[in-house]
Amino acid sequence: MATTAPAKLTPADPAGSGPPAAPAAAAADAPALALHDTPDVAVRAVSLPGQRDWGDGTPVFPRCLLASSPGGAQGTPISAAAATAWAAANRSALDGLVRRHGALFVRGLLPADATAFASLITDGVAADNFPYVGGNAVRTAVVGDVVFTANESPPSRVIPFHHELAQTPDSPARIFFFCVHPATVSGGETPLALSTRVYDRLAAEYPAFVRQLTQHGVSYRRVMSEWDRSSSAIGRGWRATLNVSSAAAAEAALAARGYTWEWLGDGSDGHGRLLREVSPPLPATRAVDGRPGAVAFYNQIHAAYTGWTDEYNTPAECVRDGAGGALDADAMAAVGRVLEACAARIAWTPGDLMYIDNRQAYHARGTFEGRRRVLASLAK
Ligand code: FE2
Repeated sequence: MATTAPAKLTPADPAGSGPPAAPAAAAADAPALALHDTPDVAVRAVSLPGQRDWGDGTPVFPRCLLASSPGGAQGTPISAAAATAWAAANRSALDGLVRRHGALFVRGLLPADATAFASLITDGVAADNFPYVGGNAVRTAVVGDVVFTANESPPSRVIPFHHELAQTPDSPARIFFFCVHPATVSGGETPLALSTRVYDRLAAEYPAFVRQLTQHGVSYRRVMSEWDRSSSAIGRGWRATLNVSSAAAAEAALAARGYTWEWLGDGSDGHGRLLREVSPPLPATRAVDGRPGAVAFYNQIHAAYTGWTDEYNTPAECVRDGAGGALDADAMAAVGRVLEACAARIAWTPGDLMYIDNRQAYHARGTFEGRRRVLASLAK
């Protein structure tokens, strides 16, 4: 039985979907909403428990939207086709909102159905699909190559805050998460953290550390088994990670991306040949497109430093600065604290959608009990 109660909705911006004037508290964001209703879908901005509003001019995070069927009774479902048509009609406005806020949380728009989610991505938002190559999480395809399961790591383990695939030279610009059903017993939220705020805090409190990362970048090192290991949060094998079917092809793929590597062991432990990869120096901070002066703490160091642990990997060895230097332990502990301080946690309900700017917002996963089905899609 679900103990994660649906979040209570509080109207915050009733003018968001139409011309009437917004109340004073919402006026600052009303011009940026610019969403248009369709005959079957009306959408307005709301506040949800767990959403962040710092009250200092930073846009609320994430921007929360509530969809309903105009003319229908409260809770009348919106069809997948109508949801897709609404998203298509509001494509550029949605993109603008995601850029402004870092992430959108949309409730009431989609039925809790994977094919509806896929249609919204491909035909509504028209996202340019980003294949999941180079990541270290075990995933399963659900709808074509567009929708797959979110990281299948064990429920008892937190997935730390990270930017998707920031440990690789090529990462997706956008991520979509979709809740088919929340954890049936407890937990399993997908916390978000605003990366520009994380950068500002760390640059003020640990300037030397931020300078080190900005100057040298960061390098990630990981030992991969040949075959996937679902017992590990970073258990994706090198065949799947690199999308190859031979050791020679793995070496060619790594060389093409500027990595170095080393083969370890004799493959006798049942997980195949072990491959240690070392990334080239990758940027650890990133200017935000369209937001002059805004810098994101765009990297994977927190997840690597705290979460890349299994029988083959030791977290502190998994991340170094781009010149090979160790990262300061106190500063790394501060990264974790700052991420928590900048986090938003909204409980999932069936059909909820997150639309995330991967350059501006971190995501994570809490532990959970019971069964949980949250799907994901990546876009360029
Ligand atoms: Fe992720």
